[in-house]
Amino acid sequence: MLYERDTPVLVTGASSGIGRSICEFLASNKHSVIAGVRKHVDFEELKKLTGVMPLRLDVTKADEVEEAVKQVSELGRGLYGLVNCAGVAGLGPLFDTSDEEFSRVLGVNLIGVHRMIHAFGPLLVESHGRIVNISSVGGLNIDTWLGPYGTSKHGLEGYGEILREEMAPHGVQVITIEPSGHRSKIGENAVDLMGSKIDTAWQESIFRDEMKQVLDWWLRTPDGPRWLMWPDPKPVAEAVSTALFSEHPKPRYLVSSREAAIGAIDTMLARVIEVNDGHPNPLSGPELVTRLEKALAMRQVQHAA
Ligand SMILES: NC(=O)c1ccc[n+]([C@@H]2O[C@H](COP(=O)([O-])OP(=O)(O)OC[C@H]3O[C@@H](n4cnc5c(N)ncnc54)[C@H](OP(=O)(O)O)[C@@H]3O)[C@@H](O)[C@H]2O)c1
Repeated sequence: MLYERDTPVLVTGASSGIGRSICEFLASNKHSVIAGVRKHVDFEELKKLTGVMPLRLDVTKADEVEEAVKQVSELGRGLYGLVNCAGVAGLGPLFDTSDEEFSRVLGVNLIGVHRMIHAFGPLLVESHGRIVNISSVGGLNIDTWLGPYGTSKHGLEGYGEILREEMAPHGVQVITIEPSGHRSKIGENAVDLMGSKIDTAWQESIFRDEMKQVLDWWLRTPDGPRWLMWPDPKPVAEAVSTALFSEHPKPRYLVSSREAAIGAIDTMLARVIEVNDGHPNPLSGPELVTRLEKALAMRQVQHAA
């Protein structure tokens, strides 16, 4: 099936921040949007947007996901795109992260994504549609004190790459979006939770003083909390639109500050060197450079195709 404008795109986590921006951007470009939200107030709010149909959807609840599949199927218009945007941050030292907290973060950011893909997969195969996962530069970088979040996003990176290979022969393309900081509720929600742990879960922690400093770093810049300085998420929405509708989408789109992008690239180069050093037959420096040059040349050929 070829894409037609009334074939919907489903966006999870549509109540605020990046998800809301994606819904607004797609709808303003006359695409048909189904917006997954958890709360009645957000449902009513999104109903006001032309071209957007809200749907009650908590990605951690199998019954709600099942009901969502039923409702989308009953529309009879298929499904072209699934944008997995729902996400939560989990801050703090990994060493002190409880099973419950780890499960909460992975439950939304990774297992929730899988639950959606598993449930909506048949509709996407039928439409030769696209899956767009909102990961993060935190899924490429190593950010200390963002351990539960970073772990979930590193998982999502690998998940997306494996799924991309598996689905390609069936006409479904899988694309990963990597934003750095953009204005939304995620920072404030995460830091609120972190603040509440300083005198409770982390009361006896060996990291308690560091966590106080981290909290301070988030909250006290000369201009107020750090997340208020982050840019509007519209460029992320634009990248999602490109991922959904360009003829030959790239496997990933970084929507990031230069600093965060360079950080991610340096982290991955360091990883290449670590992997190369870790066995009896490492490649020489010039051999590594040749391989990088070959990979860059291949990329140019792909771009030109
Ligand atoms: N903003 C950034 O700087 C940034 C950078 C990199 C990546 N990201 C990623 O972008 C995505 C969107 O985050 P955001 O920054 O826009 O934050 P946000 O404003 O807090 O939005 C998060 C969204 O996820 C929803 N959500 C949370 N738990 C859910 C669940 N169990 N089921 C369904 N929806 C759920 C929230 O719904 P409720 O309102 O009901 O809680 C909200 O709509 C996340 O995957 C995040 O990791 C954000």
